[in-house]
Amino acid sequence: MVLNRGLFITFEGIDGSGKTRQLELLTADLKKADLKFLLLREPGGTSISEQIRRILLDRKNTEMSAETELLLFAAARAQLVKQIVEPALAEKTIVISDRFYDSTTAYQGYGREMNVDFIQYLNDFATQGLQPDLTFYFDISVKTALDRLKDRTEKSDRIDLESQIFMEKTRAGYLRIAEQNPDRVRVIDAERTPEEVYKDLKLQFEQVISLEFV
Ligand code: TYD
Repeated sequence: MVLNRGLFITFEGIDGSGKTRQLELLTADLKKADLKFLLLREPGGTSISEQIRRILLDRKNTEMSAETELLLFAAARAQLVKQIVEPALAEKTIVISDRFYDSTTAYQGYGREMNVDFIQYLNDFATQGLQPDLTFYFDISVKTALDRLKDRTEKSDRIDLESQIFMEKTRAGYLRIAEQNPDRVRVIDAERTPEEVYKDLKLQFEQVISLEFV
């Protein structure tokens, strides 16, 4: 099956929302269906962006200012868009990214209470106006997220260690983004089992690419 244009899909949610598991399920089905796709994660995806990722997530970098953090996320994304996303879309690939600019609006804008209008301007500058065709936002309560994250504390990075209040503000930010972008952002109830969530995701995905793929 060949699409006549590329498709850019992003996955969003607070830490512990289960989006990574959903990405695994979706990409397994895309492989089975022999669809041409590219899976990316943010921050990261290019050599430069992965180097920036290490600085951003290093637990030792406790002195990082909110402004530095914001600009590093934007820098990692600018490189990813120019080097990987734009060329892949031009080749009619389905590009799926684990996080994109809504993460910056939700975490740095609403979570850290930085200027959301400025962040949206910066997002647009970093991506040269590129917007996802579709965004799946996996919504869960902070309580469920924290329960799920409990098992992972050893592995948590600098941003995972943020407080519960930060997570509440970030989630509220995502809900606001979804409300403001009803055509682009699909809210998926992620409180359910991974199988139930995936059934929902797959159905919506198939509608978008107008294809039943497995
Ligand atoms: P990662 O290990 O990729 O977490 P996850 O599996 O939850 O995506 O770490 C990314 C962390 O960085 C995560 O806590 C969200 C945060 N983040 C921001 O704060 N702003 C951003 O723009 C992005 C892309 C991520």
